[in-house]
Amino acid sequence: MEISHAIKYAGVDDTDLDLFENQYPLTHGMAYNSYIILDDKIAITDTVDIRCGDEWLSRLDSILAGRQPDYLIVHHMEPDHSANIARAMEKYPGMQLVAGAKAISMLPLYFENATFLERVLTVSDGDALSLGSHNLRFFSAPMVHWPEVMVSYEETEQVLFSADAFGKFGALCYDDDWTPEARRYYANIVGKYGPQVQKALTKLGGVPIRTIAPLHGPVLSGDLTPYWNLYGKWSAYIPENDGVLVAYASIYGGTREAALCFAEMLREQGASDVVTFDLCRGDVSEAVSQLFRLGRLVVAAPTYDTGIYPAMHDFLYHLQIKNCRNRRVAVIENGSWAPVAGKLMADMLSCLSGFEIVGPAVTIRGRLHTSDLPALRTLATSLLA
Ligand SMILES: Cc1cc2nc3c(=O)[nH]c(=O)nc-3n(C[C@H](O)[C@H](O)[C@H](O)COP(=O)(O)O)c2cc1C
Ligand SMILES: [Fe+2]
Ligand SMILES: [Fe+2]
Repeated sequence: MEISHAIKYAGVDDTDLDLFENQYPLTHGMAYNSYIILDDKIAITDTVDIRCGDEWLSRLDSILAGRQPDYLIVHHMEPDHSANIARAMEKYPGMQLVAGAKAISMLPLYFENATFLERVLTVSDGDALSLGSHNLRFFSAPMVHWPEVMVSYEETEQVLFSADAFGKFGALCYDDDWTPEARRYYANIVGKYGPQVQKALTKLGGVPIRTIAPLHGPVLSGDLTPYWNLYGKWSAYIPENDGVLVAYASIYGGTREAALCFAEMLREQGASDVVTFDLCRGDVSEAVSQLFRLGRLVVAAPTYDTGIYPAMHDFLYHLQIKNCRNRRVAVIENGSWAPVAGKLMADMLSCLSGFEIVGPAVTIRGRLHTSDLPALRTLATSLLA
């Protein structure tokens, strides 16, 4: 794959990886992207995960075809992109490392006593680096995942090297839909930092961009508006539509039955995008992702040892750490002798900014009873109001 005659893709597919960050399940592996700009001077952007160093270095060899690179540009110090810095700097003794001050201050954390630390060029927000007919401009993008992140913009071909922004799960050899895995990646990896993403988007708003070259996922070109719009929504915690995520957890099936019945009532009352999600089966990262997509949430869980059943607790904890905001929520609890899950779920939800809990919450005792149906119907109406 190449972006243009002068800008080459040098990333690698990690098709065997099962868990990104050792926690997010992958069905189609992961890509770590790296690019080479060939001009009077040659710049390489970023390295790849430790697992893929050999393959990356041999890719560089074949693209460079005997030429020596001048710069290694480091946009992000997270090890999935920085792990092979020392190997590359050793291999190319004339190469300078180009990064922001914060990234440079992080280098010794990962590469103790490395001699290449003498070959660094610090750049600041707005600085430029000319390669000949290509000209890179750097923009700091703090907390568009980590504090040291910067993105860069190549002015001649109008390419934005966007770091983790606009990335997705999945190796590039699988040509899957961009949006679902980009959303799951965004919500779980960058989701907490919406205001910082907004700031970065605003900073880049006036720049004409023809191509986005992220650190994961495919290079984006053509009409970039759909990607830009989705990022605008996700980072502002604006749902893509006002559908409902019915997230439930159940030990013996009683809460599940109530949740599925509630989902049917929502559909009967006109809700169009109602997604039921078994938190004991689906991965929590997908549930978080669905909630970034949908405007309303139902949480349904049993009381368990005077607490919230763990699968639901874990989901709510994830919503807290991902800083999810601005959703309408209904609560359904179950319990046989002293139900408290409803109150505890509401307590966790009320820590989330802009979450509006509609009531009254419904308590199921053991199994769903005919006598529970009117209260569930009322709750459905207030959730959809
Ligand atoms: C290990 C365990 C602990 C439980 N702890 C409580 C509790 O502290 N308070 C309560 O009211 N019910 C408790 N229950 C009862 C469940 O909340 C009740 O069985 C509920 O109907 C389960 O819903 P389900 O059919 O969706 O699994 C517990 C059940 C189990 C299996
Ligand atoms: Fe990252
Ligand atoms: Fe990354």
